[in-house]
Amino acid sequence: MTDAQNGGLRVRGLRVSFDGFTAVDGVDLDVPAGDLRFLIGPNGAGKTTLVDAVTGLVRATGSVRFGDRELLGRDVHRIARLGVGRTFQTAAVFEELTVAQNLDIAAGAGRSWWTLARRRRRLPDEVVAALDTIGLADRADHLAGTLAHGQKQWLEIGMLLVSDARLLLLDEPVAGMSHDERDATGALLETVSRDRTVVVIEHDMDFLRRFARTVTVLHAGRVLSEGTVAQVQADPRVQEVYLGHPVDAPTEA
Ligand SMILES: Nc1ncnc2c1ncn2[C@@H]1O[C@H](COP(=O)(O)OP(=O)(O)OP(=O)(O)O)[C@@H](O)[C@H]1O
Ligand SMILES: [Mg+2]
Repeated sequence: MTDAQNGGLRVRGLRVSFDGFTAVDGVDLDVPAGDLRFLIGPNGAGKTTLVDAVTGLVRATGSVRFGDRELLGRDVHRIARLGVGRTFQTAAVFEELTVAQNLDIAAGAGRSWWTLARRRRRLPDEVVAALDTIGLADRADHLAGTLAHGQKQWLEIGMLLVSDARLLLLDEPVAGMSHDERDATGALLETVSRDRTVVVIEHDMDFLRRFARTVTVLHAGRVLSEGTVAQVQADPRVQEVYLGHPVDAPTEA
């Protein structure tokens, strides 16, 4: 595997403005290959806009490199073909198709039309593998529309896996999930990040404490703090933003 396929994310001086309002204000971010990075910050911090900029959905200035490729200036589809995949807060699966068909279509995004049109007797290996990884093997023939909310998120992650995304950017994947679904999602992200790079936007602190390898805190479009969970939690600037004041120091006599 080349560096480009398995590379990390390197963001420099990223800036996104909407009619004079700067939503992302000069962000530098390094996510090494194989990281499981959590991106947190208050509402409006610019988290989703940052992911939008990386994936080509909004115009940005600065530099976003994935492996040895510059992503800024390329269109959404080209960026996806370079191995950068993302999910949205509302799962975007084809509800009228089965779970397996959803994966098959995602796997086929790079295939020619005649390969897709050919009738297949069995599922491609990568689809079978993804069904197993996302824990939906026993749902392969169910319509995606009948899946529970959490299962749709897993299906979406599966679609990124079969499309061979090497960098996955997930926007609040556990929002609205039950406790058990969160646990399963955390385990899934750990598995996925064994050979891919994963960036997760998440508000759930309990989930973050359990599964984050590293954390970046955004605030008002800028990186406020970065490090391990313990480092970020101990940072007075983070406490200020989340609690309105630093956590009290041990009482002095
Ligand atoms: N298309 C847009 N046009 C104008 N302003 C926008 C647009 N998209 C985002 N913004 C603004 O940019 C800022 C950052 O928004 P963004 O959605 O990136 O925040 P976020 O950190 O993802 O917040 P949340 O936790 O609520 O999802 C907000 O003030 C938002 O109102
Ligand atoms: Mg957001």
